[in-house]
Amino acid sequence: MTLPSNRSNPDAYEGYKGLPPLVGLLPMTEAISKGLPVEQVTSRLKRIHWALREAHKAMMAHIAGTPVYELKMAFSLHAFYCAEHVEQIATRIREMRQPPYGLELQPTPALELLGKELLAAPTIPAFLLGLYQVLFPVVQQAIENLLSETNKIFDYPTYRLCRHALLEIEDVNAYGVAALAALVSEDDKNALAPWVRLLREAIAASGSLDGTAPCEEHQLTPSFSAKPYVYDGTPRRDERFIDPYNMGVNAEALLFDSDIAPRAKTLMLFYKRMRELNVPEVMSSILAETHGQPWEYYRDMTRQMWDEARHAMMGEVGFVALGIDWTRIPFDLPWSYNLNTRLTPLERHAVLFTIEQGLMPRDRGKQYEWEVALASASPLAITIQDYDWADEIVHARIGRDWLVSQLGSQQEALAFGDKAWSNAVEDWSKWKERGLTEHRNWWPDLYLEACARWQIEPDPKTRTFHVTYEGVRPDQKQVVQSCK
Ligand SMILES: [Fe+2]
Ligand SMILES: [Fe+2]
Repeated sequence: MTLPSNRSNPDAYEGYKGLPPLVGLLPMTEAISKGLPVEQVTSRLKRIHWALREAHKAMMAHIAGTPVYELKMAFSLHAFYCAEHVEQIATRIREMRQPPYGLELQPTPALELLGKELLAAPTIPAFLLGLYQVLFPVVQQAIENLLSETNKIFDYPTYRLCRHALLEIEDVNAYGVAALAALVSEDDKNALAPWVRLLREAIAASGSLDGTAPCEEHQLTPSFSAKPYVYDGTPRRDERFIDPYNMGVNAEALLFDSDIAPRAKTLMLFYKRMRELNVPEVMSSILAETHGQPWEYYRDMTRQMWDEARHAMMGEVGFVALGIDWTRIPFDLPWSYNLNTRLTPLERHAVLFTIEQGLMPRDRGKQYEWEVALASASPLAITIQDYDWADEIVHARIGRDWLVSQLGSQQEALAFGDKAWSNAVEDWSKWKERGLTEHRNWWPDLYLEACARWQIEPDPKTRTFHVTYEGVRPDQKQVVQSCK
């Protein structure tokens, strides 16, 4: 009797001279036994696609109004993951010959309710529970199900995109666990238990997120979404951000002051980077209020928003490296406040574009900031400015692709943005008159603290720097009073 060769025995099957069969992706036995119909994979992908879109939409709606800095940063990253995977999943769905694709549709009325409830979550604990205790964990489960059931050879593109998505969704959920532990008390959990149950029942009524379970019967009564949702883009900051209306120190004027040494200017570079937390506040409001664009628009803009969040964290890193407590520095709120409350989404985008185009010239833009860092000989400041400059090139391209095409030409976009910016600027003195700030000059304290860290004698002229934003915008143009 002859034993079967390893080529006719799936359990012992091997490639040439022992090479792994099927390029090592999976054993032959698994290739023989596993697989799902195209129709079913498409249906599951559509549900995951829907969930990531809803998560993205909800995070856009919450970034500006959520006061906690770290959450603004986390939502920027998690929304970026969603935007990327939405696009990749949509591309895969279109490859799977199951039209109509229906990528804009709600999979079930119950899931539609879930999306509306998450969007309308009125508090940080509610939003965190909906996002990180309910939605992202079921997305992870749906991806894991698909990965374990689909055939890695037959359905390789789905396997690949799910494998990569899983890496990032696992990160999201790990962060979610930490965020829930830090910010959601037992009392919050108890008070919100009926609402969390509603969300879970909406999923169960839809046969789980991926539709693979039997649909349960549930009476679903809208809770937070019972009242029509209205977006509020007013930016809010947590209690660590002191004196938020202070515009008493013109950062750009200091950077362009040739009498001030590069090392002192790195403080202002770190300040400018961390102040960029206002850009996700503005960009999320643009995304929350701009409808009907192709997904590539939302993906590009979300990428830029996440970059701006990274820039803010670069500044945070810079201060911590110097041993400086950044909570003693006022990071002004009026820029994002004025844009979000006074301008249309298109005007906000145009202002951003105008500012970013202003950062392109070598002598006063991102290259200049990098050269300042280089002259300071601070390796950290050099690296930060190096990447900040690289990102800015990407952002200028995103502006050209999505804004200039809407406004006609580069010149028209710049003129539109410049006018909108002037219209958005609130009279400097009004903040003071309303008692919101004294526009205190906070620069000397920061500079003296840094000098102590550097163990150098303060330079008298640098120490007495005092130029405000009273008459000069950050691009050093004169302030034009608002006509609004
Ligand atoms: Fe930036
Ligand atoms: Fe930028």
